[in-house]
Amino acid sequence: MRKILVTSALPYANGPLHLGHMIEAVQTDIWVRLQKMLGHDCLYVCAEDTHGTPIMIRAQGEGITPEALIARVAAEHARDYADFLVEHDQFHSTHAPENRHHVETMYARLRDAGYITRRPVRQAYDESAGMFLPDRYVRGGCPNCGAADQYGDSCENCGATYSPADLVNPVSTVSGSTPVWRESDHIFFRLGAFEEMLREWLATDALQPGVRAKLAEWFEAGLKDWDISRDAPYFGFEIPGEPGKYFYVWFDAPIGYLASFTALCRRTGRDFDEYLRAGSRTELYHFIGKDISYFHTLFWPAVLAGSGYRKPTAVYVHGFLTVNGQKMSKSRGTFITARHFLDHLPAEPLRYYFAAKLGPDLDDIDLNFDDLVARVNSDIVGKLVNIASRCAGFVARSGGTLAAALPDPALYEQLAGARGRIAALFDARDYAAAVREVMLLADRANQYVDHHKPWALAKDPARAAEALGIATQGVNLFRVLMTYLAPVLPSIAEAAGRFLGVPIERWDAVATPLLGVAINEFRPLATRIDRKQVDAMLSVGAPPVPVAPPPAPSASPASPARNAAGVADIKDFAKLDLRVARVVAASTVDGSDKLLRLELDVGDAQRTVFSGIRAAYEPAQLTGRLVLMIANLAPRKMRFGTSEGMVLCAGGKDDAQGLFLLSPDSGAVPGMKVT
Ligand code: 2FM
Ligand code: ZN
Repeated sequence: MRKILVTSALPYANGPLHLGHMIEAVQTDIWVRLQKMLGHDCLYVCAEDTHGTPIMIRAQGEGITPEALIARVAAEHARDYADFLVEHDQFHSTHAPENRHHVETMYARLRDAGYITRRPVRQAYDESAGMFLPDRYVRGGCPNCGAADQYGDSCENCGATYSPADLVNPVSTVSGSTPVWRESDHIFFRLGAFEEMLREWLATDALQPGVRAKLAEWFEAGLKDWDISRDAPYFGFEIPGEPGKYFYVWFDAPIGYLASFTALCRRTGRDFDEYLRAGSRTELYHFIGKDISYFHTLFWPAVLAGSGYRKPTAVYVHGFLTVNGQKMSKSRGTFITARHFLDHLPAEPLRYYFAAKLGPDLDDIDLNFDDLVARVNSDIVGKLVNIASRCAGFVARSGGTLAAALPDPALYEQLAGARGRIAALFDARDYAAAVREVMLLADRANQYVDHHKPWALAKDPARAAEALGIATQGVNLFRVLMTYLAPVLPSIAEAAGRFLGVPIERWDAVATPLLGVAINEFRPLATRIDRKQVDAMLSVGAPPVPVAPPPAPSASPASPARNAAGVADIKDFAKLDLRVARVVAASTVDGSDKLLRLELDVGDAQRTVFSGIRAAYEPAQLTGRLVLMIANLAPRKMRFGTSEGMVLCAGGKDDAQGLFLLSPDSGAVPGMKVT
């Protein structure tokens, strides 16, 4: 029996899962379910990726500990995965003791083997926040094209890459202050020492051609030492013997795969070493997106090998998810969280759609909603489930027991005999081809029923047995097809198993048809999707934010207009464009002890707002937090600059109880309309 350990990329624990996460989870889950149905011992582990600066800053912004933040997000993620029918054998956390143990052990082995080195690094430092700044936390003018407000590592305008030190007028997004440059010692992993090993690994079947080509480029550019340390304050594991230095999140994240597996071993009595020791005969597969190939095809195999462990059998890389042909976008309402999707549609249609589009290569996968509706209605409802619903009644009419023989065993064999081919397509991650093949077979099954017309036969009592035979054939063809799609549609397959009186669990069970046995009453297994459900999902997403704010409503937004009777009219409320925004940066304002300057991400646009909340909030507390803003106020010129909106607070200027910013529950995204 093959022993297989499978992972998908660990979701970062600072925000909700979106459909981009889900395509990978579904791709992995389908593959794992297939292996299990084939009778292999296959285990799927994953975990929350919990460390690093973004989580630390976000927790600060919310006024909670990082531990509380990651616990809350983990619970949300767990619910999303479960409702998308993604079944992990173990779901753990990189902040768990098992991970600390592996991280420390592997680091010690790498150090003792001479793969660790140290040297000083000059980095941006925020004196007011008291922390070194990752490149993405410094913004300023592009040194190449002059575009304002660019990230510290690359320019979104001209594509240039550079270091934060090159920025014109750099600003820390943590506090809004100007960073200084400081040196500190960092700890590096000597990746270059593994070049030969990596080149040999590359020659195996471990990687897809597109990934190999990329790797060849990276070899060409030279394998550089990898900085695996970060200075305090940092949310992570402190490096033993290096006070104030922490393991970089990307060092401990993939080790989280092993921590999760350790937790599984402990729970189930499996042997960790059997899977991980060098030369292990078990198989190890990582499913990832193409943006994190470097970490998984260079650093990770090298860290594993340098620590005395086996290398992955293969890394399976998929492309990005686009929606209606474009990158997912908050302002177009196509940045769809898993929960938002589930609020409007069930998971299985999307699982089926993803399967119908996923190939074995790195191509991007486009989610087109018209196509989704058409395919699901035509394939799952119109073709697959239809076979069972057309035949079930004739079995019920004959007492609920299937005939003792198939009228057309050759046709049955045609479908059941495809099982090796279809399994091979799924196994090779060519789900699109597998689904196409299943649908061609479904067409044959429907043609069979159309041709033999059991409904016509059933009208003649003398031909009732014939009608039962046709229906028995139809039900058996349905069972074969449902088995092939069970990895994709697990809950429909479970309901189909209840109808058939035998669970759909083993791939090879289709070798023998169901004959002479009682089946159960047929209940609808899937319902058509109405385009209106999709429209509803898209319309309450995040509609476009106007680029130039429309004229201000006549009334003061802080106190909505009141009519003559002193009662606010709903029309007055409707004039306000209230939006969710995220504080990207907050800073004090020279010359004002009342105001804070807030840079707000409103979906596609960024706005500057001056807000009178200085007395209630420190700037560093606000970065990363969600607020509600009025987005359609006319820009207001102030002494300090122009304010492009207003954030909402409870309390008031003269309120001795203080001021309290209003925030939506986590899961809301910038740009979302407040209704
Ligand atoms: O890219 C990401 O979202 C990371 N959290 C993936 C980590 S995968 C693995 F290395 F842990
Ligand atoms: Zn530029």
